[in-house]
Amino acid sequence: MSQYHRFSPKNMANLPSTLIAPSVLAADFLHIEEDIRRMENAGVEWIHLDIMDGHFVPNISFGPMMVKFFSKTTDLYLDAHLMIDNPGKYLEDFKKAGAHGITLHAEVEGVISEDLHKIRDLGLDVGISINPETPVEALDSVYEIVDLILVMSVHPGFGGQKFIRKSIAKVEHIARKIETVGRPIMLQIDGGIGPENAGEVRRAGARNLVAGSSIFRADDPHAAVIAIRSAADAAIAH
Ligand code: DX5
Ligand code: ZN
Repeated sequence: MSQYHRFSPKNMANLPSTLIAPSVLAADFLHIEEDIRRMENAGVEWIHLDIMDGHFVPNISFGPMMVKFFSKTTDLYLDAHLMIDNPGKYLEDFKKAGAHGITLHAEVEGVISEDLHKIRDLGLDVGISINPETPVEALDSVYEIVDLILVMSVHPGFGGQKFIRKSIAKVEHIARKIETVGRPIMLQIDGGIGPENAGEVRRAGARNLVAGSSIFRADDPHAAVIAIRSAADAAIAH
């Protein structure tokens, strides 16, 4: 038995070919438990938790208290995407709340590498994210420490935005780089993902697909998950 969650990037060799991470930002929080069960039944691996502080991004979402409710409700991997300033202050809180991995933004001012090490020392998976306008070179110094790289394919802050196509080239570039590094690093994409572009981003190298609106705003969220996964897996089938 490994000490990590079974869907942790550290367990890379045993993971499914595509991991689906529904972003609950688009869910109905009055019926969130129902939505989580629906996601479990649809076979998703991760739940993506968008943490927004109204400073780093213009929107405010929720914090560790809600993460704790999620961790009491499900055994799925809890993926905390921190779109906040001063993330270092809150890392322990998110760990205590039950997050399995924490992703920080490379654009946040301050001591990013110290914070990444702190996440690692807490025993959690370490993630780093770049915004659409941030060049891939911003990641050059972190390949030796991170377990996950998140390419934002919308401007962070809100769900339901249009997919930014130039992020595909960034995914391709980072995927090649990960191969040369030789460490297991999960490549995730977030923003405007649905059945219509899941194949293309999967082929580019994004193995972990975050999707909010295309799942929770669909008439049938279960079917939406299946459609995203089939499109992704079909795109890499030989
Ligand atoms: C945006 C968030 C995303 C968002 C995705 O700031 O990081 O996770 O909820 O939502 P959709 O899939 O609707 O673009
Ligand atoms: Zn997100």
